[in-house]
Amino acid sequence: MSTTRFLTGITTTGTPHLGNYVGSIRPSVQASLRPGVQSFYFLADYHALIKCEDPVRIQRSTLEIAASWLAAGLDPEKVVFYRQSDIPEIPELTWLLTCVTGKGLLNRAHAYKAAQDKNQAAGREPDDGVTAGLFMYPVLMGADILMFKAHKVPVGRDQVQHIEMARDMGASFNHLYGEHFVLPEAVIDEHVATLPGLDGRKMSKSYDNTIPLFCSREQLRKLIQGIVTDSRAPGEPKDTEGSALFQIYQAFATPEQTEALRQAYAAGIAWGDAKQQLFEHVDGIVAPLRERYEALIQDPARIEATLLAGAQRAREMATPFLRELRAAVGLRSLAQGSSNAKTAKAAKTALPAFKQYREKDGKFYFKLVAADGRLLLQSTGFDAPKDAGQAIALLQREGLGALAERCTLTEGAAQAEVQAALQALAEAAVAKE
Ligand code: TRP
Repeated sequence: MSTTRFLTGITTTGTPHLGNYVGSIRPSVQASLRPGVQSFYFLADYHALIKCEDPVRIQRSTLEIAASWLAAGLDPEKVVFYRQSDIPEIPELTWLLTCVTGKGLLNRAHAYKAAQDKNQAAGREPDDGVTAGLFMYPVLMGADILMFKAHKVPVGRDQVQHIEMARDMGASFNHLYGEHFVLPEAVIDEHVATLPGLDGRKMSKSYDNTIPLFCSREQLRKLIQGIVTDSRAPGEPKDTEGSALFQIYQAFATPEQTEALRQAYAAGIAWGDAKQQLFEHVDGIVAPLRERYEALIQDPARIEATLLAGAQRAREMATPFLRELRAAVGLRSLAQGSSNAKTAKAAKTALPAFKQYREKDGKFYFKLVAADGRLLLQSTGFDAPKDAGQAIALLQREGLGALAERCTLTEGAAQAEVQAALQALAEAAVAKE
């Protein structure tokens, strides 16, 4: 079964609230546990710079968001969990994509147009206060997605246009330079609840109506007491429709529990009691996560190590892929380019090669080096040079799979690269005959 790659980014501004938990963190953590999927979740801190110029807040928010996801059960062994700015290939790919992206496409981006409309309404220049970062936002996001050949990108509705733009960029590049990118699709989960905030509007930082996911128990109690209700007195039946309190409860409750609260509403539960019930229920669910969160936040070095390990895994894909893309557009080693020249010597320098040697332990080894001299693969020791030679022949005949136990790939070299090197050697041998 082929795996489907899911990828999503979380912009590192602000502190996660209950709405983020219900709408994004909880469903993503659940989705990452399904069989047959590989998930890439990352902290989009380059994106955060577009919205936030406060370095302390960027760092703090990165820590809090990473800790929140881990506390909510994200398993960094299963999911490739990393920080965007640890992957230098992403800004590099951003440039390659910038060069195949129509400016007109970016002119139509909703976020950019909204900024322009706002200026216009205020009688200012259309681009007043608009950074090139905001304008380029979709290209950076395209690089995030295309870099890891994501098939599916779970996002909110407001992000769908960005996924379509990523498809456009990938398709333009493929058209110009050959099939390199997988074209991604947005996934919008219709079942995921949007949570109302304290004032009944959608819970959102911009409305200042949020309940932080990991505030203290006391703070949680206070905030829940402040949720808007109507003026119906105890004993009067209450409407569940349009009740923020009810909807928040529902997002955290089983269908049976929700039904019980619905009946209590009909029976005229006092608002104070309903709030108390909501508070105890949410706190019961959040408390164990809060405990993990507090422990994680106390140990930023551990989170840092987790993110760096994730970045290393991400770069195992990104580094060879970017090398492939650079070559595709013509950013190539000049030595390699000369393989078009007719001289035998030039042809030789442009080929990968097997090298055999003896180590101090008395055993015989071989390695495979790429055309540009990088080490791709190394064998374990053989007792006789003949054995090493036969292993090379087998490798050339049957590919890496036949010799998996006796070879180790160099860090950063991908299997695909080794296979390509073997093929280049095979083709050169045929050409010589
Ligand atoms: N722009 C997204 C948001 O604000 C965050 C994001 C950045 C993202 N890069 C991404 C989401 C790549 C999905 C895929 O929500």
